[in-house]
Amino acid sequence: MNPTPPSVDLPGVDWSGQVDTLVEAHTDGPHRDVLGLLLSVNEAFGFVPRNVLVHISARAGIPVARLLGIVSFYQAFRLEPPGAHIVHVCHGTACHVVGSPGITTYLERALDIDAGQTTPDGQVTLASVACVGCCSLAPVVRVDGETRGRAGIHDVRALVAEVKPERFRESGE
Ligand code: FES
Repeated sequence: MNPTPPSVDLPGVDWSGQVDTLVEAHTDGPHRDVLGLLLSVNEAFGFVPRNVLVHISARAGIPVARLLGIVSFYQAFRLEPPGAHIVHVCHGTACHVVGSPGITTYLERALDIDAGQTTPDGQVTLASVACVGCCSLAPVVRVDGETRGRAGIHDVRALVAEVKPERFRESGE
């Protein structure tokens, strides 16, 4: 059975109008780029909310089950709202060979979550991504969309202190 993502609650925001615009942008006559549409939704909302899928289904005549099947199949989609900060660690080949697995392991321990999860307080989401296109800067970490290259352990520690400062206050590290 496909997991069911939560709905978005955006008081005062015309999210349905925003979604309609995305549906139109990914429709060319009888052809519709459903994968591209869902990726745009994921980008716009930070995940794929249930009420948005229901809206797309009604608008585009695509069964919700089919949409859920797509978003639960591809790793690129998030089915849960992201944390206030999103930390992406690049695991493309160039980053992998110069240490991204160690960076992810450090962050998993420091944040007490696995990659792909959000801290219980909703502050930080940790995710692994494929090549982000700046291999000469490997290993690459992105924090809230900002690229940080040649990330060493001091940079990663500083990053944790930045996105979750209480982590170090709690441990006294
Ligand atoms: S492999 Fe990490 S930026 Fe290309």
